[in-house]
Amino acid sequence: MRLGAGAAALGAAAKVTILEPSTLWASTRSVPPSDTVRFGIIGTGVEGCSLLSASLPISGVECVAAADLYDSRHIAAREALRGKNIDTTREYRRILDRKDIDAVIVATPDHWHRRLVVEAAEAGKDVYCEKPMSHSVEDGLAMVEAIQKHQRMCTVGSQRVSSILYHKAKEIWDSGKLGMVDTITAAWDRNTDSGAWVYPIAPDASEQTIDWNTWLGEAPQRPYDPVRFFRWRCYKDYGAGLAGDLFVHLLSGIHYVTGTNLPPQRALSTGGLYHYKDGREFPDLLWTMYDYPDFQLVLRCNHNNNEEGELFGFYGKQGTMIIRGSTLTFKPQGPYAQAEDYSVFGWPAKLRNAYYEQWRKDHPLPEPGRFKVEVGTEVYTPPPDYSDQTDHLMNFFSSVRTRQAVVENEVFGHHAALGCHMANYAYANKTIATWDAAAKKIKG
Ligand SMILES: NC(=O)c1ccc[n+]([C@@H]2O[C@H](COP(=O)([O-])OP(=O)(O)OC[C@H]3O[C@@H](n4cnc5c(N)ncnc54)[C@H](O)[C@@H]3O)[C@@H](O)[C@H]2O)c1
Repeated sequence: MRLGAGAAALGAAAKVTILEPSTLWASTRSVPPSDTVRFGIIGTGVEGCSLLSASLPISGVECVAAADLYDSRHIAAREALRGKNIDTTREYRRILDRKDIDAVIVATPDHWHRRLVVEAAEAGKDVYCEKPMSHSVEDGLAMVEAIQKHQRMCTVGSQRVSSILYHKAKEIWDSGKLGMVDTITAAWDRNTDSGAWVYPIAPDASEQTIDWNTWLGEAPQRPYDPVRFFRWRCYKDYGAGLAGDLFVHLLSGIHYVTGTNLPPQRALSTGGLYHYKDGREFPDLLWTMYDYPDFQLVLRCNHNNNEEGELFGFYGKQGTMIIRGSTLTFKPQGPYAQAEDYSVFGWPAKLRNAYYEQWRKDHPLPEPGRFKVEVGTEVYTPPPDYSDQTDHLMNFFSSVRTRQAVVENEVFGHHAALGCHMANYAYANKTIATWDAAAKKIKG
């Protein structure tokens, strides 16, 4: 049912609301040319190209240069910008050294994030860094320090925190309608080879078209291996498996909705490698239970059954909020006043009847006509063509221009990434991972 932006109606069982896109869409339309933010991008693979396309509807921003170590991706970047003839290079320093560039997007594999973000900050650039922000605890600490030392704006690329659907979820959370919430669960399940990162090797990939040694960066040296280049998420030297790829989105969404800007206190993981025994160094099923000060969180990512897809549940004393794909449902729940109907059957009838008599006196039925009918369930969804990635980029570019805080800064990104590192630490070491804030270390 398409109701038009902002419209609401009563369906058979629930009120369905199509959410309106962010107000920033309107405000950036009036940016004068002198205020245009000029940006470069480092890494124009799958995500880099997706970000370039998502930047096109944003007024007052212009991509002027792209760096990538694989030549075909220079073509892909121009195509993502609908043929715009930007400067392309294998050498990212050419972008950082340009004085006419205000900001850079870093969309390389995770093992390059630290070096690029630190060097970009040193070069005076604001940075949009893809998720997970860090490849290790130490990387995250160094990145936070560099951004803060050089007073740069930094956004981390878990775009759900800019989604109008998650803004609605936060509004419901903040309203207190859920009551006390002690349990949050989330899952991101897939059941395809592509979902499990078994991406095809491009036919033109070779040591001539890819600068393999630079791609390795600080990772251990090894001969050219296109499997590692295209499927880097499977290997510890470059990625962080299910936790780094998917948990980080779930953690960022939950941190945003609940207003949590902390790493988890403890993490306990289990899982296994059941199907994708292709030499990868991470499980294809991962469960992690996390302790936070005010709630417990259970996350699961699975590559072998996708019945549940992407699913969040916030379970409160007075309501349940579920986000399934792009649909948010809020359903009220108790607490209901009701007479005890279980344990009093162990009482003699006289006592039981007296109990019921008293209970009815204490809880008189409302007079006829004064019953409150709760329609209750509310359903929200964004319009079909909505892009949270565009909203997230818009939030970043707006902050570059105004110097106002971004929605997901380096500290937020660091905390979400710590949750991923703790999940992997607990799984790899078969232990409970604890965040030692004083030592700034994960301990087993
Ligand atoms: N936010 C999201 O929803 C989302 C989705 C997918 C990927 N990502 C993230 O985006 C990042 C990139 O993922 P991807 O799937 O696009 O990977 P990819 O392998 O498709 O592309 C990465 C590109 O970076 C280039 N590169 C690596 N080191 C470089 C360097 N030093 N200088 C210049 N170019 C360099 C590579 O040549 C490659 O073309 C990762 O951090 C990933 O987790 C985020």
